[in-house]
Amino acid sequence: MRKLNLQKLIKGAMMVSAASMMLLAGCAKDGNNGLDGANGATGPAGANGKDASETCKLCHNPAVVDSIATIFQLSKHEYGTTAEEEAGNTGCTPCHAQEAFKYVCKNNVSTAFIQDPATLKWSNPYATVAGSAYGNLGCFTCHSNLHTTYAYSDLTTFTTVAAVPMTMWGGTKTINLTQDGGKSNLCVKCHQPRPIAISTSMSIAGQTSTSSFADTANRGKWLDYTKLASAPTAIFYDSALATTITQPVTPSYRTHVHYGAVGAVVAGMGGVEFNGTMAYASSSHASQASCEDCHMAPVTGAAGSHSFKAKGNFNGCNNASCHTSAGGLMSSTNADFTNIRTEIKGLIATLGGKLKEGGVEIMNKNGDATTNLWYGYTTANYDGYLNVYDPVNNPNGPTYNTGSFRYMGSTSSWTTAQKATNAAFPKLHLTNAQMGAIINMQFAIREYSLGVHNYKYIKALLTNSIAILP
Ligand code: HEC
Ligand code: HEC
Ligand code: HEC
Ligand code: HEC
Ligand code: HEC
Repeated sequence: MRKLNLQKLIKGAMMVSAASMMLLAGCAKDGNNGLDGANGATGPAGANGKDASETCKLCHNPAVVDSIATIFQLSKHEYGTTAEEEAGNTGCTPCHAQEAFKYVCKNNVSTAFIQDPATLKWSNPYATVAGSAYGNLGCFTCHSNLHTTYAYSDLTTFTTVAAVPMTMWGGTKTINLTQDGGKSNLCVKCHQPRPIAISTSMSIAGQTSTSSFADTANRGKWLDYTKLASAPTAIFYDSALATTITQPVTPSYRTHVHYGAVGAVVAGMGGVEFNGTMAYASSSHASQASCEDCHMAPVTGAAGSHSFKAKGNFNGCNNASCHTSAGGLMSSTNADFTNIRTEIKGLIATLGGKLKEGGVEIMNKNGDATTNLWYGYTTANYDGYLNVYDPVNNPNGPTYNTGSFRYMGSTSSWTTAQKATNAAFPKLHLTNAQMGAIINMQFAIREYSLGVHNYKYIKALLTNSIAILP
């Protein structure tokens, strides 16, 4: 849509200079020209200049910028719509808009939450400033040096390759994928989970004011997964019970770790690590393959290179230092590939079946291929949302079993009919084990690869979550 056309621009520039020459010619007619002045002293010889258009051609040729810009049309970075939808939103754009991303990288904006000394509430500082909360994702998003020195090295310098402090835990943990020059960190800076925020006020019965709020010191802070894992039987949420709840979050349809779980999964981090029979280890992909190795491999179909897609492209897997014909080339029919994916699919289905309230599954299913970003990945078509009634986001639309649980957020804008519908549903109670299992299930669905990213880590999260649920 917004693709530039260099030829047009160059033609435009030529028209401008032609017009100025005509203006100069016009001037000469107005009066008599004066006499030429005496010649000045000869200046020192200048350094040899570079032929500007030769430098441009390093990149502006059919094999480089032109062809990559065409492949880039296959990338959701290019055709996705969130950059435009979230323009102006300083909290969302650090991962969704070019100028905001460049701003948070350049200024090394902290992910550490800040506590207000008066109210004791915490807030998430990971944001850009209003003036830079825009820009579609494009070449200049990742290649921050373009048009700086006009050397080819402008293309091999990236906006960031530094270790990534995780926004989900206020920067207390860091992802650092050092293989391949740290280029994965460029992707992880955006493709990482977001924090689940602890409520700043409570609407749970018996906890209506902050004075009865169990965890006053942590309002607005990021949900601490270690507390979920260490006390699995404790109550996380109960829509009726007046009790002390350490980390209150009101579950809604959209209580989630956001869409970009992948970076954390690859790094073997970011899940709720319940104790269990399976240790939390990482597969060799975590330390040996970079995002680029698999997602920017030579093109096959609509995948590879600057499409950033991996689907159906095994060129990255099958190179001399990874999968070789001696050990078995990777393909969609390779038994390792199909077995792993079938196994992880099965574990997701088992966990989904165990996450129930009043006999109804808590995890939402959506059989609509256009609205479910994870359509086809699991047999039941889970999308990672919670099957909680919400007149706006989850009325009944394309979802199954909609509206099963009482949504405890503000109902003040609801119609009488909506309130009545809602009142008839079973009420949600969650233990820490269930909440942790929900988070792990979202993680497993939304990493898309059914274990390819990090088989050992995803398998351990799912296996230990299944075991801890009654
Ligand atoms: C290191 C590689 C590189 C060099 C050298 C280079 N460019 Fe570019 N240029 C790019 C890339 C990449 C884009 C973005 C293309 C796109 O968005 O499809 C671009 C875009 C442009 C645009 C479109 C406007 C813009 O900024 O997006 C113009 C005009 C342009 N270049 C002119 C030049 C000229 C003139 C030279 C030589 C003086 C030059 N470029 C040298 C890589 C380069
Ligand atoms: C500036 C932040 C940012 C960076 C850096 C980034 N991405 Fe993305 N990526 C996004 C966003 C945002 C989307 C979704 C865009 C939309 O839907 O509007 C996305 C989409 C994708 C998709 C498509 C997912 C789908 O659902 O089809 C893939 C694959 C992907 N990115 C891989 C990568 C890889 C690999 C890298 C590193 C080379 C990378 N990304 C770097 C923000 C980023
Ligand atoms: C830490 C980075 C980060 C932040 C902050 C962030 N997002 Fe995202 N978001 C992503 C990435 C990465 C994707 C694409 C993931 C994929 O497709 O695998 C994404 C995907 C999305 C999508 C789905 C787009 C699609 O493909 O259909 C929506 C909608 C979205 N984000 C909205 C938001 C909103 C609203 C905010 C602010 C409240 C926000 N995001 C903040 C990283 C982020
Ligand atoms: C999401 C980040 C991202 C975006 C957007 C992006 N690139 Fe890249 N680009 C990379 C990464 C990472 C590499 C290195 C790939 C590798 O290591 O295999 C790369 C490599 C390249 C190379 C090869 C450099 C070399 O090593 O010789 C060219 C040329 C290039 N990009 C051009 C473009 C152009 C043109 C655009 C816009 C149409 C663009 N890139 C958009 C991340 C990006
Ligand atoms: C070992 C290879 C491998 C590595 C390394 C890898 N991926 Fe993937 N990725 C895959 C495969 C395979 C899929 C699933 C493709 C499919 O079948 O849909 C996938 C899926 C994805 C998707 C969903 C969209 C898509 O292309 O299907 C995103 C987004 C993504 N990966 C991002 C990343 C990021 C970011 C990194 C680095 C932190 C990374 N991946 C590392 C192989 C890999």
